[in-house]
Amino acid sequence: MPLAILEKIENISSIPTLPTVIERLTRLLQNPKTSAEEVGKAITTDQALASKVLKLVNSAFYGFPGRISTITHAIVILGFSTVKNVVLTASIFDAFRNKGEGTSAFNLEDFWLHSIACGAASLSIAKQLGSNEKEECFIAGLIHDIGKIILCQYMPQEFNFAVDQSRKNSQLFYETEKKLFDSTHEEVGGYLTERWNLPMDLQNAVKLHHNPQPSHDHYMITAIVHCADIFVRALDYGNSGDDLIPMISDQVWKNLGLDNVDLVSLIENIHDEIEKASVFIQLT
Ligand SMILES: [Fe+2]
Ligand SMILES: [Fe+2]
Repeated sequence: MPLAILEKIENISSIPTLPTVIERLTRLLQNPKTSAEEVGKAITTDQALASKVLKLVNSAFYGFPGRISTITHAIVILGFSTVKNVVLTASIFDAFRNKGEGTSAFNLEDFWLHSIACGAASLSIAKQLGSNEKEECFIAGLIHDIGKIILCQYMPQEFNFAVDQSRKNSQLFYETEKKLFDSTHEEVGGYLTERWNLPMDLQNAVKLHHNPQPSHDHYMITAIVHCADIFVRALDYGNSGDDLIPMISDQVWKNLGLDNVDLVSLIENIHDEIEKASVFIQLT
């Protein structure tokens, strides 16, 4: 009997929320008259968040020479949209990082390494393809498997059983979930992104990363995350519950034009980008 996973998850009231500053920022950024000071003020109402944002913008990941010492300064240098993305990333991280314990079968450190690597690889692919949605690709890659964290935290027995079964049967984790629960971490993560009111491109990438379809909106971001997930498994960065490397969808490969990409330099860039993104590992 498949368990009604989503129904259970929907009834859990303790699932983390995103800080209210995200909503306030979204509103502020919709108004073209909003100034850098106003946005800076909104972010600094949450001091812990503001200091994480400063830590990130001063890291090798953003690569700006010289020190950015205030949020307003960060906005002037990086622009509204980048700062909003940094705030969003830091908030999502805050909601989950260092919370929960993982299980014997599912190591949280390995999970976050997989997630950060997937974000960095998504960014690399987006850069290589000349996409203008690079930051969105990074966040989408970072949160693509967020449903697993929810399952691990709130349904540890069922989740552990699925991880064990997947290993025992050498079956991809999402196939095992489908078989056992008739539902997957994509749906659970997708539900969370809806509950958090995240932009549609992020919602779709989380919901469809194992099976991107060109007919869906924001296909390119989802397709990039699909590839990045598989690249970082193949390159052995972290672990997200199974040890298998799925096939990249032929259609995705063709649609992204990966035949025309220098794969050696892409892989090199992925390694570099993952190295730079290691600041996220220390982001507590
Ligand atoms: Fe996944
Ligand atoms: Fe993954």
